[in-house]
Amino acid sequence: MSINQTRRLKPNEIIFLENDVGDCAYLIERGQVLIYLENGNAEIPLNILAKGEVFGEMSLIDGSPRSAACRAIDDVQLLIVTKPQLTDRIIAADPVVRLLMQALLERLRFQNDRLRGKAPVLNIAPADLLATEKKEAVERIGLENRIAQGIDDHEFIPYYQPIYDLQTCEVRGCEALLRWITKDRGVVGPGVFMDIMEDSSLILAAGQGVIEHSAADFESMHNQFGPDFFVSVNVSGRQFMSPGFLDHLKATCERFKLKPSQIKLELTERIMTEGKQVLVTLKECRSLGFQLAIDDFGTGFSSLQYLAQMPITHLKIDRAFVMNLFTDDKSLIIVKSIIHMAHLLGLKLIAEGIETREQLNLLRKLGVSQGQGFLFSKPVPLLEFNQLAHRAAA
Ligand code: C2E
Ligand code: CMP
Ligand code: CA
Ligand code: CA
Repeated sequence: MSINQTRRLKPNEIIFLENDVGDCAYLIERGQVLIYLENGNAEIPLNILAKGEVFGEMSLIDGSPRSAACRAIDDVQLLIVTKPQLTDRIIAADPVVRLLMQALLERLRFQNDRLRGKAPVLNIAPADLLATEKKEAVERIGLENRIAQGIDDHEFIPYYQPIYDLQTCEVRGCEALLRWITKDRGVVGPGVFMDIMEDSSLILAAGQGVIEHSAADFESMHNQFGPDFFVSVNVSGRQFMSPGFLDHLKATCERFKLKPSQIKLELTERIMTEGKQVLVTLKECRSLGFQLAIDDFGTGFSSLQYLAQMPITHLKIDRAFVMNLFTDDKSLIIVKSIIHMAHLLGLKLIAEGIETREQLNLLRKLGVSQGQGFLFSKPVPLLEFNQLAHRAAA
């Protein structure tokens, strides 16, 4: 069935019957339809739907047969919503939303059965069919609750990865990278919790925590690494656009006596899709003196139009390109192009994920001024970070 196909029906024409296999849903463009249950020779009307309403979606969502019958009341025109159009979106949805949807469908089918006079079956959905869906959703809610509790209990702290001047190999600054210090699972990285935080408002509390923690830790790092030392903080779109983000950032700087120029905000270009206000806030950050870096540059969402609009100071070359510098010609070409463009635009460059001396030498030769990576150091807790200065001096 092709996308945007329409179906026209005369009054009383059947659109589908109960227990038919659901192959598509419909959006009413014109006329009215009756949703009803077949009960022997009698009919139990459930609803009359009109222009703009959708029906026939339930069997596509839960994979069971049509839960009711449907026929046209007058001249009707329907827009067909194909199965993939619906199911692709459902698969992409949050598992908790999918669970809620399944629960609603179960209840609606249960109500229809009751109206039909069928003995109510308490659990009509085949348990094992939904088991994985439910397990995933339940696990996610459980993890979300543990994360929320962990934030309250101050279990989330930033580790710091040093950022080096690639010519002199001196530490210039660091990137704050969030870690969850758990009692049972040890130190847990962002791969486990960041998506869940970003999909919920938890990122707001966690993000504020990272900024406050980094600002509090700054003085000791600053004392070790000198006056130009900076700390880079990752900021997600939702956090950046939340009311009060900039006020909190300014207040934290004042409280811990940091100059805005000592803080760099790392944002991905995706932030530009959050609305027009983003640019206003970015400009305000810049005019206050905060440094702004585009993170993961060159991956997924790069748009040169955004690059031209955003008042940024730095570009971060993503780890994926650095990793492939010697194995994939295209990565080398892309890195060279990013460097060339950054120089022309007057932007400073930071390479991420430097793991080998060969990568370091090549990036140096290509004119990248700063970098970070496991060759130098992994992200480490504050105390260990401050000892890097002694090691460098030794
Ligand atoms: P990112 O901002 O791109 O951070 C760089 C990631 O690369 C970090 O992973 C870092 O540990 C890792 N990395 C650095 N050098 C190397 C290397 O040489 N080899 C390898 N294999 N990896 C290297 P991490 O700490 O797991 O963080 C993952 C992502 O989580 C970050 O990617 C960032 O997007 C997000 N994240 C971390 N902390 C925060 C935070 O406080 N706020 C927000 N919004 N996101 C955060
Ligand atoms: P589906 O089960 O695919 O086919 C029948 C459709 O009727 C169903 O999707 C819903 O769109 C709709 N439907 C089922 N039960 C009700 C109800 N109780 N009230 C309104 N609409 C319903
Ligand atoms: Ca980053
Ligand atoms: Ca990256």
